[in-house]
Amino acid sequence: MCGIVGVVGNRNATDILMQGLEKLEYRGYDSAGIFVANNNGSNLIKSVGRIADLRARIGIDVEGTAGIGHTRWATHGKPSEINAHPHQSETSRLTLVHNGVIENFAQIKDDYLSNHHLNGQTDTEIAVHLIGKFVEEDGLSVLEAFRKALHIIEGSYAFALMDAQDPNTIYVAKNKSPLLIGLGDGYNMICSDAMAMIRETNQYMEIHDKELVIVKKDSVDIQDYEGHSVERESYIAELDLSDIGKGTYPYYMLKEIDEQPTVMRKLIKAYTDDDNIVVDNAIVEAVQEADRLYIIAAGTSYHAGFAAKNMLEALTETPVELGIASEWGYNQPLLSKKPLFIFISQSGETADSRQVLVKANELGIPSLTITNVPGSTLSREASHTMLLHAGPEIAVASTKAYTAQIATLAFLAKAVGQANHNKAAEDFDLVHELAIVAQSIEATLSEKELIEEKVANLLATTRNAFYIGRGSDYYVAMEASLKLKEISYIQCEGFAAGELKHGTISLIEDGVPVLALISNNPILAAHTRGNIQEVAARGAHVLTIVDEALAKEDDDIKVMTVHPFLSPIAMVVPTQLIAYYATLQRGLDVDKPRNLAKSVTVE
Ligand code: F6R
Repeated sequence: MCGIVGVVGNRNATDILMQGLEKLEYRGYDSAGIFVANNNGSNLIKSVGRIADLRARIGIDVEGTAGIGHTRWATHGKPSEINAHPHQSETSRLTLVHNGVIENFAQIKDDYLSNHHLNGQTDTEIAVHLIGKFVEEDGLSVLEAFRKALHIIEGSYAFALMDAQDPNTIYVAKNKSPLLIGLGDGYNMICSDAMAMIRETNQYMEIHDKELVIVKKDSVDIQDYEGHSVERESYIAELDLSDIGKGTYPYYMLKEIDEQPTVMRKLIKAYTDDDNIVVDNAIVEAVQEADRLYIIAAGTSYHAGFAAKNMLEALTETPVELGIASEWGYNQPLLSKKPLFIFISQSGETADSRQVLVKANELGIPSLTITNVPGSTLSREASHTMLLHAGPEIAVASTKAYTAQIATLAFLAKAVGQANHNKAAEDFDLVHELAIVAQSIEATLSEKELIEEKVANLLATTRNAFYIGRGSDYYVAMEASLKLKEISYIQCEGFAAGELKHGTISLIEDGVPVLALISNNPILAAHTRGNIQEVAARGAHVLTIVDEALAKEDDDIKVMTVHPFLSPIAMVVPTQLIAYYATLQRGLDVDKPRNLAKSVTVE
């Protein structure tokens, strides 16, 4: 949610910023801007739209040895050039980019800036005017002014600040929003995400909440808000440059869908040793000690929690409760005596989940984060972490992370069940079953043409659609419908098939697409087929996605059978492709749907 990049030192700042912003574009793409400076002057360039629109505005004269850049996902103020970052202080001496939400911006405006002229509607402009006031009107140094402002500003932020009178320094600070330092030879960088700097360096340094950092070309000085220096070791990030490119694919989403069999095999490698399941003992013990597991997540990750719930309960013999992160933090149910909170988050940065984790830590509740991003905030702050090993997921619509989340939870469930001598866990040959899942996904991927054709008949022009299913197929229906609506803009609902007749069936009329998922057992399959008849009788255009073992000749898409615990992984793949092709056929940008951003770092 908004991307920040900055560089200072012996590099062409414009090039570095633009390359970084292109890599960060998945975090927000309604406007963008850069500020570039050297000892002879500075340039501020902004544009509404994508990074390509900004690039078109940058002439060869825009060069410097230091700069900051931003790609925006609007929170305060509509997407416009005026609201695009960077923003400047009253005299334009200071320039600031920001990711996050300043909660007390209205109060700051009233208390400190009544005589200031503000151009736009952003909270960020208020922050830079506040710092600017302390420098330009009250005579503080930039460092003192920044520190003073950080004591006043409340909310979430990653800030990068430059002073036109000292183009050799970038000041940064963060609270609840991600920001990292990248260390180079003769230059240093800052960035919201290591991926955007990996071309330049693989050596990084974390910034913790409520730290202010003074970044120069050959030094990084981390301080707390009282000005005390903080020591911090750097680390090497193991990111493969080829993971972050699209290769020959037209869209990241298709590449990431195709990567799923490989991810399943990578997970087998990561969580086994000679076919024995290896999950950190401390994690297994944490689950064994809990009397209830609370899974807290958002969006697709929340759906992955549902998809794994039955398996977790069956194998660990511990009840599992699900919570939507944005609700949970402010409306927490009565907890059991020995809860374990499990956070599922692809990015590890989701602010809604993080606010629950902060409260859990305050209450001393143990926690496990299941994430794709080592070193992410949710990983650092939880008691334990399990990684998804899915490689960077760049398309806004999550695909391979969802299937990796279910598979990772399977390793957890199996390890705990085995440790408890649970019979079902001992009989569940997870390595073998996941290998079959990988084959099943491959079989589905080989049917892309068929799926594309079915979608063309069904979804190319419709305004709405329904996914239905029972048991774990209902959970897959929730995810399938999210995927379809978020990128194709078709209004779609995922329904428990038996629930339609309790109200929603009144929406079924001639031609409404109903996509039915059938895996699980023959009894549920028969019931779902009954529900299909009910909607077909009312004119619905039905498409069936059915486990081969339960399929009939005229079913539309057949999915190779896998173990029932893992069937959500196999069943979701055709729905990912359906969302992909529906979006392509409707002429939309698959990877960057409107109004969205990949990493949701605001509450
Ligand atoms: C949808 C999607 C989102 C995320 C949600 C949580 O395709 O990707 O619904 O799942 O924003 O994000 P993470 O998993 O990063 O916490």
